[in-house]
Amino acid sequence: MTPQFHRPQPRLSRRRRRLLQYLAGGGLGAIAFGTLRPETVASREVSLEKLCSMFPQNSRCADYLPGVQALDTEGEAIAVDTFLPTTTPGDRPAVTGLPDGEPTYLVIQDGPAIAAYGIRPICTHLGCTVDWHPDQDRFICPCHDSQYDADGRVLSGPASDPLPLATVVVRQNQIRLVERAPSVDPR
Ligand code: FES
Repeated sequence: MTPQFHRPQPRLSRRRRRLLQYLAGGGLGAIAFGTLRPETVASREVSLEKLCSMFPQNSRCADYLPGVQALDTEGEAIAVDTFLPTTTPGDRPAVTGLPDGEPTYLVIQDGPAIAAYGIRPICTHLGCTVDWHPDQDRFICPCHDSQYDADGRVLSGPASDPLPLATVVVRQNQIRLVERAPSVDPR
């Protein structure tokens, strides 16, 4: 029988052992003390914003104010209780607040009430800013004369696609603008 020899294991130097303990402790510590936590919280906030802008009536969203507050032509935040009585169904008042600096046209419905979507006046032909013409009840592009109805549907080209929409949420006496199309396009 061949004798079995035990090969002696190389011993780690004290310095190397300490280094390995430090690295192992750091990795576990990061998990234990939540170094990764901010990322988790941020992604939760993003998903809450997404949920609440897509489904603002969801019970989790009762206190959540998505997007940005709508501002009037003076740059002042709009209070719904004073603003709404000044409107008439069919109006398309322009408000600002979204980061691109372009206005958003609110859609005033029967009630009067503010629709859950607003019209973004960005022409889908080549991107000029279209103007609202209340006397003609339509948006008209000053560049090549594309025309859109009061909800942004194309009436005449060269544009072939409707105007983009933003999500509008009315809550806590505020009008909130969300730079995202509503979950259901009403057109
Ligand atoms: S950019 Fe509006 S019609 Fe051409």
